[in-house]
Amino acid sequence: MPSFDFSLNHHLDLPDDVFRLLRDTIYRRTGLWFADSSKYLLQKRLSPRARELNFESFQKYYYFLQYDPRADAEFDEIYDLVTTKETYFFREPAQLTAFVEEIIPDILSHKTVRKIRVWSAGCATGEEPYSIAMLLQEAGVFERSAIEIFASDISNDVLVRARRGQYRETAFRMTDPAIRDKYFTREPDSCWRIHDDIRNRVSFGRLNLYDQARVSLLGNVDVIFCRNVIIYFDDASKRMVISNFYNRLVHGGYLLLGHAESLITLSTQFKLKHLKNDMVYQK
Ligand SMILES: C[S@@+](CC[C@H](N)C(=O)[O-])C[C@H]1O[C@@H](n2cnc3c(N)ncnc32)[C@H](O)[C@@H]1O
Repeated sequence: MPSFDFSLNHHLDLPDDVFRLLRDTIYRRTGLWFADSSKYLLQKRLSPRARELNFESFQKYYYFLQYDPRADAEFDEIYDLVTTKETYFFREPAQLTAFVEEIIPDILSHKTVRKIRVWSAGCATGEEPYSIAMLLQEAGVFERSAIEIFASDISNDVLVRARRGQYRETAFRMTDPAIRDKYFTREPDSCWRIHDDIRNRVSFGRLNLYDQARVSLLGNVDVIFCRNVIIYFDDASKRMVISNFYNRLVHGGYLLLGHAESLITLSTQFKLKHLKNDMVYQK
């Protein structure tokens, strides 16, 4: 009879006190909050990594993260593991329509300098900023005005994939096949590769939204997309991130959150603007 080693399927034990130390450390660095009820989730996500590094307990892994000079590099790995990166092209289409048909024309009508800066904060594998670029291309906006789209995420792993621009069919579940066929080329391994003219419209960079100093280096932006990102933060870190966004936006600039997210109880600085297609926040 062959014998199987099942040990890899078993997660390392995560005692409650070590869980709290670990989740507080992650929180202080990212704003991501793992409530007590999410202990198993954190255990499941980090256990394979701790085992891979040959730690026999979470406590030893935690000490390494606290005291070892290689801890910063290890946190980069942790960010890849603890973040939720679910995304797809043309997500929340009413909001995207509002962006191209109402927000962009509004900005253009007020702007004296014709450069518009759009930031996709928490862009995951790039579907959001590339959707923005395709919509602007379809609307002919690039021909008329200078637009800079930059996209950032805390996870290295997703940024590598975003820059590569190769997607599986599931990323197109909300995409009109005609748009997919126009902007992507089918590859033999049933992937679709984005065309360079759209890929080159977006610049990607690593940025932790919780890092106030680095966020403040971004300069002013006209529109911030931060959709389905702060949903994983607690209220205190949501407030901090939102206040940073406020400081980055030009007067009259727009903040677009995911539909499950709102500024109620978080900020009174923005006004809620009712557009034909959606409701958005404006500075
Ligand atoms: C669910 S995805 C949302 C992707 C896209 N915005 C959308 O709506 O489809 C959330 C992304 O936020 C990123 N994220 C989480 N915490 C972050 C932080 N502190 N700084 C920057 N990005 C963060 C994650 O790595 C992940 O890629």
